[in-house]
Order: sequence, then structure tokens, then C-alpha cells
Amino acid sequence: MGAPLPSLGTTSDPSEGPAADGSGLAGKQQDRLLDVSGTLYGTGWRIIGSLYTVVATLWVILAVIIHYLVLGIDDVERKWSYFLPDLGATPSRTACMGLHFLAGSVIMLLGVWQVCPCSRRQSCLRLHHIGGRVYVACSVATAVGGFGFILEQCVLAGGWTMTVSFCLYGGCVVAFALMAYWKARKGDIGSHRRWALRSFAMATASFSYRVWLTIGVKWQLVSNPSDSYVPNPDRSVPFFRDEVYNQISQWGFFVLNWLVVEWLIQAPATKFQRILLALLFFVVLAFLGVFAFYFTEAAAVEFVRLQQAL
Ligand code: HEM
Repeated sequence: MGAPLPSLGTTSDPSEGPAADGSGLAGKQQDRLLDVSGTLYGTGWRIIGSLYTVVATLWVILAVIIHYLVLGIDDVERKWSYFLPDLGATPSRTACMGLHFLAGSVIMLLGVWQVCPCSRRQSCLRLHHIGGRVYVACSVATAVGGFGFILEQCVLAGGWTMTVSFCLYGGCVVAFALMAYWKARKGDIGSHRRWALRSFAMATASFSYRVWLTIGVKWQLVSNPSDSYVPNPDRSVPFFRDEVYNQISQWGFFVLNWLVVEWLIQAPATKFQRILLALLFFVVLAFLGVFAFYFTEAAAVEFVRLQQAL
């Protein structure tokens, strides 16, 4: 699950300090769950951040870069449509999805650096600022590519409900990134930080969706008969459109991430909420670990099969 990640900017690291990140978080924000420090919480964020980075990087390299942009690039019309209908059926769809894959990969990975406290050390602030601009530009580009594809495709694999949810999700990706940028430009760093965290929760949501899908198939939460991947005439696909689990995950993937990050931002750092945070660490870790296991296992099998099929 792509929950909001590593240390969400507690100022427990002396090299970071309030002057370095300019957050001015002393006072009111200090007693928020977001700011709890201590060995358990600091280590928790570090472990989750590191595991997410490794697993998401692996996913981007294998499932996006190698799958679409290396192995699939010589015959996009056929090879890009292997799992989802018509992904590369026309030059404009290919252009939109190509932009979408590249920019989407950037925000999923660059976001980790942006929320990591070390990027806000005085010596790294310039890189944080440059990274922030690239992140916002890529958020917009990811959504432009996604929306461009939706406009031409009309109905996504999951039918109308997935089409609506992906449009809303794209809107959130753009809106939250622009809000973070606007607040930074205004010098309101506390608000910038909160919008940046919401934005990062959205950037990781796309990855969460693949975790949901993989676990659904592996744990047989979807029936997954072999003919359920054959598209209907309107290009919806029974596997995505008709399975209740998939209908839920097509909304849950970004709504859950949003709820979790909102809770982190708003919740007071009471003992009960700290226990919930510790539980969240374990749940996220477990899902990341399970996904990493299934994904590596499947990647090996899938790539051999794909090579033979294409
Ligand atoms: C702005 C938010 C996003 C929107 C609106 C969006 C939209 C879409 C749409 C419409 C599709 C085609 C689905 C279909 O044919 O039914 C798609 C597929 C895909 N998207 Fe996104 N997406 C977003 C974020 C991301 C991010 C951050 C990534 C990270 C790399 C990403 C990676 C992919 C991939 C790899 C596919 C192809 C399907 C697959 O192989 O899993 N998307 N997206």
C-alpha cells in the first residue's frame, strides 16, 4: 500500500532544524500525530520509506519502463494492448500513455526525496526546490497524458465507474501538487507541507492500486476466470468491470490514501493515536512485503511468458 511516507518532517533531526526547512511548526503543529518523534516512529518511517523506494523502483523498472518502453516499443499497437484494450491503438493514445508512463514514474519516485527530511537540510534546499518544480510539472504531465487517453478511449477497462474515479483521481493529483507549489511560493511552509503530503499520497496511490490488484488475484478475492480479460465492445473488461473487489479497489486506492494522510495531518498525538500509527506501520509493511514477494515471483514467470507470446 502506498501510504504517505518517510518521515514527515519532524524536526527531530538537528541538521534539519526549523530554520532549515522554514516550517515554523513549533507550537500548534507540534502536538499533532504527524510530528511525533522517537525511535519507534522515526525508525518506522525510515523502514517504510526505504521499502517503498525499493519496491516501487522495481515496479517502475519492470512493469513500466521495461514492459512498455523497452520490450513493447517496437510494436506499441499490439504489445501495449496486451493487458488493457487499445493502450497504444492510435498515435495520440500512444503519445498520451508514453507521457503518462514517464511522468507518472517520476512522481512516484521523486516524491520520496521531496518528503524526506534530508531534502530540506540547508545544504540540499536547492535540490528540494528544483525537485519540487519537476514534481509539479510531472504531476500535471501524468494527468494530461491520462486525461488525453480517457478522452479518446471514452470508457476505461473498469467501465464508467472506473472512468469517473480515474478522472477524480487525476484531478486530485494536479490540484494537490499545484496547491503545494502555490503555498510554497507564498511562503506558507506549514500549509505547503500538508498539501505536499496529500500530493505524495496521491502519487503513491497508483502504486497502491497495483498492490490491491495483485493481492486480490493472489488471495482469490476475485474469481478471475481465464476469459474475463476479453474486452467487451465498449472496451470495458469483465475482470475490471464486473468483479466487486475490483470495483471497490478502483475507488479505494486513492480514497484510502487520502483518508490516511488526512488522519496523519489532523490527528492529535494522543497515546491512542500513536498506537494506531504504530499499527499502521505494521500493516503497510506487511502489504509492501507481500506485494514485493508476489511481484518478484510473478515478474520472472510473466516475462518468460510474455517473451514467448509476443
Ligand atoms: C494523474 C493520475 C493518473 C491518472 C488520471 C491515470 C490514468 C490512467 C488511465 C486512464 C490508464 C488506462 C486504463 C485503462 O485503459 O483502462 C492508466 C494506465 C496506467 N497508468 Fe495511470 N493514471 C494516473 C497516475 C499514474 C501514475 C502516477 C503512474 C505511475 C507510473 C501510472 C501508471 C500507469 C500504468 C503503468 C498504466 C498501464 C496499466 C498497467 O500496466 O498497469 N499512472 N492510467
